[in-house]
Amino acid sequence: MKRYLVTGGAGFIGSNFVHYILKKYRDVQVVNLDKLTYAGNLDNLKDLKGDKRHIFIKGDIACERDVMKAYAKGVDIVVNFAAETHVDRSIGDPSDFIKTDVQGVYCLIEEAKRLGIEKFVQISTDEVYGSIAKGSASEESPLLPSNPYSASKAGGDRLAYSYWATYKVPVIVTRASNNYGPYQYPEKFISLFVTNAIEDQQLPLYGDGKNVRDWLYVMDHCDAIDFVIGNGKDGETYNIGGGNEKENREVVDIILDALGKPRSLIRHIEDRLGHDRRYSLSIKKLRAMGWKPKMSFEKGLRETVAWYRDNGWWWKKIKSGEFRDYYTKHYAKRLSESKAR
Ligand code: NAD
Ligand code: TYD
Repeated sequence: MKRYLVTGGAGFIGSNFVHYILKKYRDVQVVNLDKLTYAGNLDNLKDLKGDKRHIFIKGDIACERDVMKAYAKGVDIVVNFAAETHVDRSIGDPSDFIKTDVQGVYCLIEEAKRLGIEKFVQISTDEVYGSIAKGSASEESPLLPSNPYSASKAGGDRLAYSYWATYKVPVIVTRASNNYGPYQYPEKFISLFVTNAIEDQQLPLYGDGKNVRDWLYVMDHCDAIDFVIGNGKDGETYNIGGGNEKENREVVDIILDALGKPRSLIRHIEDRLGHDRRYSLSIKKLRAMGWKPKMSFEKGLRETVAWYRDNGWWWKKIKSGEFRDYYTKHYAKRLSESKAR
């Protein structure tokens, strides 16, 4: 039996990964350590109730006692998703990003080193490469993070690697592009715009809307992580991209068309500070090993829009809670000063 420790497994990608693993493998145990911050949500795991293979522990990856409690359940493979993840919030207050995304990695991997676990996968991001004017970032490209989120993720990414280089802890680092799909907290671009559009609310597009992101369907991401656990080499880094580079304004148009909503919902608002213009990943390394993304952007986005349309129970609760204050504080003034496209 394989025993996983998944951290941040009540968040967007982590909860999808827990589902992926429990569906794909019969003989597994998944210990899920999550602090349940504003982004953690037990509704994401609701359908796993009664599945004894899944053990949820509320706890902090930066707290030694919580981490030891999780490892004590028995762990072969650690997959560390736990992080503060929203760039806009990191610009407002970076402190929790440094605590979780750097200190948390230290605490989690120290214990992995002590116990001699089989594999430690650090989930990193394409944002560590910073904005890419031309071409695509390979795993050898320099790290030039430019906001407190990406800088703290780069810290965690290299700290994890250093435990391989220094102590031979079997570490693999993955750097994925922007994910989309079910259970994404509705502060992120696609989940925010889809849920706002469903409710005929304005869509706050930053700047000229020409920033480019590469979009990866969340289940393709989960599949790639599983693939590198089985086929990757310790000490290596793997880029995971979707091969779908799009300007934000193109994505908004697709969302509005899928929902049959008017372009007049789009508002151009004051840009994000230090807004990276373009992310772009080369996934030659993973392709050469035999992995590629399966979902096309058009189909993935259509399915995602349908999921949010059919699962209002999931996001309406969030949007009427903590999120409401955040949204007002972050967007109200900018929206009142905005222009239509
Ligand atoms: P998310 O914000 O939806 O979820 C993060 C989860 O981590 C939440 O459940 C939260 O409660 C938990 N958490 C936060 N701090 C914690 C702590 N100190 N201890 C334990 N749990 C804690 O994030 P996501 O979008 O699912 O991202 C997951 C990981 O993937 C992150 O490491 C992120 O940097 C990385 N990543 C995300 C994307 C993306 O597009 N979303 C792309 C590439 C990489
Ligand atoms: P986001 O989902 O925050 O991810 P990233 O970590 O890549 O910044 O944003 C994706 C893109 O969408 C990014 O270029 C910023 C833009 N964006 C908006 O235009 N408006 C918004 O309200 C948000 C949240 C993002």
